Amino acid sequence: MVYGKDEAILIVGSGCFGISTAYHLLKRGFKNVTVVDRSDILPAPDAASTDINKVVRSSYSDNFYARLAQEAIQSWKTKEWGNTYQESGVLVLGSSSDASKGAYTNSSYENDIAIGSRVNVLKDGDAIRSVFPKGVKVASFQDSSGYLNFDGGWANAAQGIRLMTANVIAQGGNVISGKSVVKLLRQNHKTTGVQFADGTTFYASLVVLATGSWTASTFPDLDFRGKCFATGQSLATIQLTPQEADVYRNCPVVLDFGKQFYTLPPNEDNIIKFALHDSGVIHFPIPGKAISTPRTILSHPQDGLSIPKTKVRALREHLRGVYPDLAEKPFAATRLCWYTDSPDEDWVIGYYPSDPSLVIATGGSGHGYKFLPIIGCIVADAIEEKLDPSQAKRFAVDRDCTQLHSGRTSAPEELDVEGLCSLEDLLPDFNSS
Ligand SMILES: Cc1cc2nc3c(=O)[nH]c(=O)nc-3n(C[C@H](O)[C@H](O)[C@H](O)COP(=O)(O)OP(=O)(O)OC[C@H]3O[C@@H](n4cnc5c(N)ncnc54)[C@H](O)[C@@H]3O)c2cc1C
Ligand SMILES: *[C@@H]1O[C@H](CO)[C@@H](O)[C@H](O)[C@H]1NC(C)=O
Ligand SMILES: *[C@@H]1O[C@H](CO)[C@@H](O)[C@H](O)[C@H]1NC(C)=O
Repeated sequence: MVYGKDEAILIVGSGCFGISTAYHLLKRGFKNVTVVDRSDILPAPDAASTDINKVVRSSYSDNFYARLAQEAIQSWKTKEWGNTYQESGVLVLGSSSDASKGAYTNSSYENDIAIGSRVNVLKDGDAIRSVFPKGVKVASFQDSSGYLNFDGGWANAAQGIRLMTANVIAQGGNVISGKSVVKLLRQNHKTTGVQFADGTTFYASLVVLATGSWTASTFPDLDFRGKCFATGQSLATIQLTPQEADVYRNCPVVLDFGKQFYTLPPNEDNIIKFALHDSGVIHFPIPGKAISTPRTILSHPQDGLSIPKTKVRALREHLRGVYPDLAEKPFAATRLCWYTDSPDEDWVIGYYPSDPSLVIATGGSGHGYKFLPIIGCIVADAIEEKLDPSQAKRFAVDRDCTQLHSGRTSAPEELDVEGLCSLEDLLPDFNSS
């Protein structure tokens, strides 16, 4: 559909997809853009986009994303982002003994070369160890190989969302917190607006759903089965003293595609974060309703941040394989953070089939944040039907998703709420108990 610049556009969700869409629509001259979010506090504490930091890398096995990430990195370096982006470099590792696990690293290397990234090949453990600053005790990295990509790093995720939200407001956009959409209002198979949990309604010419991992469970009628689903991913942090943090300050992001583990250098609060990037867990709170539903600090204030004990153990083992000294420290916090996965790991962006007033913008699949500066441009192009046909097809809501992405092929396990970690599980001697 072609929309006039004065028509009302409602964006549901103020995470990376939603806020970037608002920003780019306003930049294109749309005048009546409203973003609503269910959370009273923005950015929403349990949004995937709200975090201390996220990896920003161009190292992708798919050269489409490699190029797009390079474009995003150019934007991150502009002054409107202040110090949000830190170019620490990204150490990309794969196992040299397991060919299937080395494949992603190899093709991402080829793509990095093709886009002209500054890279250093690291053939063995000695070469890998040499890229860390002096004084950092690192593991042997035997059986690993990989490369250092200097043109990447990490972003202060919550700060990026805050800056873009401020920019949306400065451009005349409306951002409203504490408004939880429970239902789409429809007439003649066409979306006309939304109804909120408080009973109020909002009518708009176009509704954009950017509700992240809540999309499939909140809108079961839209039937996202096989298109996007919520998976819980485990992360933990360690609080360092300023002196300890200084030792690790200039380390690169370490991203091991073979082990499905990554860790970032300490942030300004001297917190070091590390996480698993695997098939994750799914959660079915309502018996008989098989749509995975996020379980977070807002829905479960008591233990919504807790991760499975098995994942605490895995995180500690993987951390030992990078920074052995840190593996002897207690974890300060954990978080089960919810991806919106699509089977092929391509995003889900475009008109909902046969509804000219409803656009879907989600399916981040664990790698959306780094595109914050530009992802809304893709959504705006989809809205204006200007998207390049190959991209339109790649992101289409009704595309054939049966071609599974090679990265995370094992099926997600169901979350065992009884097996969630408690405080003592975060201590370093947990393994021996
Ligand atoms: C642990 C973890 C680590 C990650 N690491 C990286 C990384 O290193 N690099 C990277 O590039 N990407 C990373 N990602 C992926 C990235 O965070 C996501 O792809 C991206 O943030 C998704 O943005 P979103 O806007 O779709 O979702 P969200 O940020 O979750 O935003 C959705 C918003 O919608 C709101 N909402 C939901 N339902 C409703 C409703 N009914 N009514 C109103 N509002 C609603 C929510 O409150 C929320 O604010 C990671 C994700 C996780 C979970
Ligand atoms: C913007 O859209 C809203 C929702 O449809 C409407 O109530 C409001 O009057 C519009 N504002 C302008 C300036 O047109
Ligand atoms: C990856 O590249 C390395 C070094 O060139 C090579 O030894 C290895 O066989 C490659 N692995 C795969 C899976 O292609």
